[in-house]
Amino acid sequence: MEIKTDFLVIGSGIAGLVFAIEAGRHGRVSIITKKEKMETSTNYAQGGIASVFDPQDSFDLHIQDTLKSGDGLCHEDVVRMVINEGPDRIKELQSLGVNFTKNSGDTGLDLGIEGGHSRRRIVHTKDRTGHEVERALLEQAEANPNIEIYENHMAIDLITKSKMIKRGIVVSETEETCWGAYVLDVNSGQVITFLAKVTVLATGGAGKVYLYTSNPDIASGDGIAMGYRAGVKVANMEFVQFHPTCLYHPMAKNFLISEAVRGEGGILLDSRGNRFMEKYHPMKELAFRDIVARSIDLEMKKSGDECVYLDISHRGTDFIKNRFPYIYETCLKYQIDITREPIPVVPAAHYMCGGLLTDKNGLTNINNLYAIGEVACTGLHGANRLASNSLLEALVFAKRSAIHSSKYLEENRDKPFPGVPVWDPGTATDSEEMVVVSHNWDEIRRFMWNYVGIVRTNKRLQRAISRVKIIQEEIKEYYWNFIVTRDLLELRNLAVVAELIITCALLRKESRGLHYNLDYPNKDDEHWRRDTVIWL
Ligand code: FAD
Ligand code: SIN
Repeated sequence: MEIKTDFLVIGSGIAGLVFAIEAGRHGRVSIITKKEKMETSTNYAQGGIASVFDPQDSFDLHIQDTLKSGDGLCHEDVVRMVINEGPDRIKELQSLGVNFTKNSGDTGLDLGIEGGHSRRRIVHTKDRTGHEVERALLEQAEANPNIEIYENHMAIDLITKSKMIKRGIVVSETEETCWGAYVLDVNSGQVITFLAKVTVLATGGAGKVYLYTSNPDIASGDGIAMGYRAGVKVANMEFVQFHPTCLYHPMAKNFLISEAVRGEGGILLDSRGNRFMEKYHPMKELAFRDIVARSIDLEMKKSGDECVYLDISHRGTDFIKNRFPYIYETCLKYQIDITREPIPVVPAAHYMCGGLLTDKNGLTNINNLYAIGEVACTGLHGANRLASNSLLEALVFAKRSAIHSSKYLEENRDKPFPGVPVWDPGTATDSEEMVVVSHNWDEIRRFMWNYVGIVRTNKRLQRAISRVKIIQEEIKEYYWNFIVTRDLLELRNLAVVAELIITCALLRKESRGLHYNLDYPNKDDEHWRRDTVIWL
């Protein structure tokens, strides 16, 4: 089966939906999403979106906070652009029906504060900002006759000029070009050829490459892996952000305790009730995220404890229930009453600062292939993302890339597609050995956690690279012998992402931001104040 469209958007989080709503004014948009449409990291975002609204705040202060957090690797021109465009993008969200929490102050918006911010500037919907954004954007997209959403459709690989030439197809384009993707209809098992004039990777992050993560299951780095296989440049994959405070409870899977809790006065304690962050940084609990996560890791290693504690109980029941209703209710389900007792927390993999390298319009090094949202590396975050700058980046780049690619569409609307062959399953059969897939999944996530986590060493990284190479070989063999399934495709992508993270971590011979290697404990501006860029 073949479906032709103007814009193929892979992913239904904030980046994909904002892109689709803007691009839908210029052409037909097909959004594919590998599970239910709401199942995105966006949907779980708690803290909010950082932007300058308070008269006491300024673009310059937000820019300075972002640059400090990025530890020397942010691209200042990109930082300025994103921060300057932020307020307009947030007003647009409001006009699309997003309800942010209000107060009676100058701006009308209740502004929160999180680690590394020198002013209150986090626009939020209590502690479920992402859910509200996702709800409103989906409502808009579904009401638009130019936009079609395909749930349970998973992109396998991009269709590019180089790949077509390898398969003997004649193409007229001189530059590398992308014409869409092969897509697995997860329910029927059929592989559909989606042909598109413009293709957009909005596939989110890769937290699932680690054993413990705040991310939902969809975050398996598919977009990064597909882009890399297609020849897109990948940058800064060593900078994996660990969120300092995820709920530590045997029954809780991936539940975040927002940094906004620390913003509103939450303090970190060890198991004996001692506050410890003052030992590590003058900003204490509101230091940059890499510092707080590393301090917790060190405290846990020193004490042998399995978690530390976050206490907000002193703010009183009414405040807590009103400001953090979702966190309060969720913790209560696990018999933790946060109005009376501290919350057991641990760091977990949260955000991928690296990704597919793009320009200021979200364009990759392939002609008509864009990457937006967490899948991209735009230069905004440098070596450590400032809290709540991710949704902001997605908003700004989704809009810019929609405008840019619409111009491309205008110029290329009448160009015919090449004769792209249907997906070739070869001699693949149904697998009876799914245990191989689940075993390798587990192994990757474990060695990434143990060897490529918050604190790294050369020896651990070397171990990890040898393991991932062996697993890659096994997957290659398995991939071509068996019919593709979502689990197998995700495993193949996770293995690529793991290899990219380890490779970048081995290349960077210093410690900076989120990358901390005990064999090179210092920052080396002379040699390493630059991005780590790799490609096939
Ligand atoms: P996502 O929202 O993750 O969407 C990715 C989409 O791609 C999904 O629809 C997925 O199904 C689809 N997809 C993936 N692979 C494929 C494939 N192969 N085929 C088809 N579809 C595919 N950031 C902030 O700025 N502020 C916050 O308060 C905040 N809180 C957070 C809380 C949590 C718990 C988490 C996990 C993250 C948080 N972040 C926050 C980070 C932020 O939410 C994400 O970076 C952002 O939502 C990513 O948006 P996105 O559109 O790029 O990707
Ligand atoms: C949070 O609410 O702590 C998440 C904020 C972020 O990831 O930016």
